[in-house]
Amino acid sequence: MLVKFSKLLKAATNCSHFSKSASWWSKVEMGPPDAILGVTEAFKRDTNPQKINLGVGAYRDDNGKPYVLPSVIQAEEQIMSEHLDKEYAAIHGIQEFCAKSAALALGDDSPIIKNGLNATVQSLSGTGALRLGAAFLQKFFPGNKEVYVPDPTWGNHIPIFNHSGLPIKKYRYYDPKTVGFDFNGALEDLSKIPEKSIILLHACAHNPTGIDPKKEQWKELSAIIKKKNHFPFFDMAYQGFASGDVANDAFALRYFLNEGHQVVLAQSYAKNLGLYGERIGAFTVVASSSEEAAKVMSQIKILIRPMYSNPPIHGARIVTKILSDPKLKNQWLSEVKGMADRIISIRAKLKSQLAAEGSTKNWNHITDQIGMFCYTGINPKQVERLTKEFNVYLTKDGRISMAGVTTKNYKHLAHAMHQVTK
Ligand SMILES: Cc1ncc(COP(=O)(O)O)c(C=O)c1O
Repeated sequence: MLVKFSKLLKAATNCSHFSKSASWWSKVEMGPPDAILGVTEAFKRDTNPQKINLGVGAYRDDNGKPYVLPSVIQAEEQIMSEHLDKEYAAIHGIQEFCAKSAALALGDDSPIIKNGLNATVQSLSGTGALRLGAAFLQKFFPGNKEVYVPDPTWGNHIPIFNHSGLPIKKYRYYDPKTVGFDFNGALEDLSKIPEKSIILLHACAHNPTGIDPKKEQWKELSAIIKKKNHFPFFDMAYQGFASGDVANDAFALRYFLNEGHQVVLAQSYAKNLGLYGERIGAFTVVASSSEEAAKVMSQIKILIRPMYSNPPIHGARIVTKILSDPKLKNQWLSEVKGMADRIISIRAKLKSQLAAEGSTKNWNHITDQIGMFCYTGINPKQVERLTKEFNVYLTKDGRISMAGVTTKNYKHLAHAMHQVTK
């Protein structure tokens, strides 16, 4: 009886209910797999115990495990005990969350906040903030509606802006000869592109290179962007995660604001609070008066309403709780510093182990770079060898996620890197 039933079930699931040629979707082609997810898939198939996944852009502790911040757990426990309702948030999100996010980015005593010049809304993490910013600029930006991104940039920047109809162009950023910042190339490009263009800037911990301009270089970038009347779009996905100090990581943004730039800003709490899956971030437009900020806010809400109506509440409650309670906030600040410090110290270990392996190559960039990623300068052929011969998984551009490097695997990694580069 049971056998008969399972046979029937199999026949029913194999037989297609619709004929293929008549399907509405018969012309849909298979899309290419995501480059980073492809690395993780290959890693999962590998059965070698020495395998290392350096593709993922999420923090791991020294045992290679995901890390839920203790401050986040405490905030969640408090929220649960309050038995809050599950009503909709406002279109722009939870008001207190927006205020706390703006203060974290711009500084507690920012004159912009004091004078009500910021229109800040809750967003679906950093990606959602960027997408909202793209939609806002597409509709309202009065200058040259082309977005200039650093070359290279985070892979998703390009489809995000294209998706809202803004063409992407590039300005020079990475210099393969020095494995460092092409400062002169960037200055030259920014001075030659059409005036009033949109310039995307990674506020700190540039992804994928890990190479940030020095403070003096940021000042010159600000001057040229101002001279050419360009418009800065700051993407700040790693505040606190880069240096371990939230004010230091916001240096560029705050400097530009002090210099009188009007900016837009995308913030994410994925990395610095480890809230990847909560999809919590913020989008801010800086206006020239509080009346203008109110008008901008009204238009951002009109953009949000048909996209997702209003944002989810749980992540916003966690962030608000942590940023509003001085004790929890201090605890979080030390936890984010802990994550940054682990990455900084494993960079130093990897570099000195390469020397111990006998590598005579200059690996200074490993410790000069900052944040989650390290652009190793390793070419695609060497990447292939790292994976095939040493079970080390990374993207073809030679980018490694430092979060995947631990005190248990850095020796194997250094050995492999030396073998493919000697
Ligand atoms: C430069 C940059 N911007 C934005 C994001 C957005 O991430 P999320 O949408 O998870 O906040 C990331 C994540 O990797 C990033 O590296």
